Amino acid sequence: GDNAMYLAHRYDIEVEGACEASLACCTCHVYVDEEYFDKIPEPKEEEEDMLDMAPVLKPNSRLSCQII
Ligand code: FES
Repeated sequence: GDNAMYLAHRYDIEVEGACEASLACCTCHVYVDEEYFDKIPEPKEEEEDMLDMAPVLKPNSRLSCQII
């Protein structure tokens, strides 16, 4: 798949992805740059729920495997 997590992997940026993009973990948690945050599609409810369990949640937090 072509989500931001796999894209990061392709560029050798280390982002964990314990559940392989199936929205069952929050290891792919990232902070999205302000400039892009409003330009990417809004998170699904399932992503929001999972994000709530991420450590150090910020307003620009997203699960990178859900950014497409
Ligand atoms: Fe598990 Fe993204 S890899 S939610």
